Amino acid sequence: MLFSESVLFICIFVSTLLVSFQICVCEDVKHMTKEERVLLREEARDMFYHAYNAYMENAYPADELMPLSCAGRYRGVSPNRGDIDDSMGNFSLTLIDTLDTLVVLGDLAEFAHAVKLVIKDVCFDNDIVVSVFETNIRVLGGLLSAHILTDYLQQRDGIMPWYKGELLSMAKDVGYRLLPAFNTTTGIPYARVNLKHGIKSDRLEYARETCTACAGSMILEMAALSRLTGEREFEERAHKAMDALWKMRHRGSDLMGTVLNVHSGDWVRRDSGVGAGIDSYYEYCLKAYILLGDNKYLNRFNRHYNAVMKYISQGPLLLDVHMHR
Ligand SMILES: *[C@@H]1O[C@H](CO)[C@@H](O)[C@H](O)[C@H]1NC(C)=O
Ligand SMILES: *[C@@H]1O[C@H](CO)[C@@H](O)[C@H](O)[C@H]1NC(C)=O
Repeated sequence: MLFSESVLFICIFVSTLLVSFQICVCEDVKHMTKEERVLLREEARDMFYHAYNAYMENAYPADELMPLSCAGRYRGVSPNRGDIDDSMGNFSLTLIDTLDTLVVLGDLAEFAHAVKLVIKDVCFDNDIVVSVFETNIRVLGGLLSAHILTDYLQQRDGIMPWYKGELLSMAKDVGYRLLPAFNTTTGIPYARVNLKHGIKSDRLEYARETCTACAGSMILEMAALSRLTGEREFEERAHKAMDALWKMRHRGSDLMGTVLNVHSGDWVRRDSGVGAGIDSYYEYCLKAYILLGDNKYLNRFNRHYNAVMKYISQGPLLLDVHMHR
């Protein structure tokens, strides 16, 4: 979870507190009626189409829509915002990230149209340095989930007969562009990679710091890519990175730090929490067990969970502590 998500998380957390506070004070609280639920569902659908149509009409094929100027944001063209621009690789990020939501909403016609656009327009051979983590979760994850959904819809409904696995080929292309990032002493990936040149350019090999979440949120997509293509290297690299991270836990507390050096395997920031920079590492430990059935990951999750409950969870708050605690 990066900063913007952590703000969102805080908002959700605060509103959860408010909701539970209300539940405590109101005796006559009622369940939502069906009408209320349908109303909220339609409101969520409207919000989705507001954002999606605005992006498609004003920004596509740019990575993002700029909400004030209502124009596309292109890497290297629009003013630079620093690290958060690292998610943009001139690969129509928003559309790829949105594909599975179209299926969730049941809009299969628009899904078919969007899949065609991605196949026709998106290219990954770009001389751009991107975040390995963001490209993995949003682009590789987006392509893989859209591929799996298309395959399922083809078999269930016989729709999209023209689809021949193009999204999976694109996912493999992205996977191979991310692999050079794993070429470190520890096997823990670099934070950034050049889509076209790997680590060889842009002095990327000198940028040795990465966050725990960045390094530890690769296994789900990489394992799915390996299982779907039969090429084992993706999954093997991601397992190796997870093993290296596990070795870095504090042996007394089982806590993890937040920032580390990918070559030495030393911690750069030893504060430990459950927020930005670390959260999805825990998430991926549990989900790796759910997806792959490997008990090793459930054991790791439980050890970290117990550590979080013992040291970080203080009353209603989750506080950052030193990992040597
Ligand atoms: C991204 O694409 C835009 C539009 O095609 C182009 O002008 C820009 O130079 C590209 N950015 C990079 C960093 O290649
Ligand atoms: C990995 O790093 C080694 C040593 O720096 C280098 O010789 C090799 O070409 C790299 N391999 C890849 C796939 O980047």
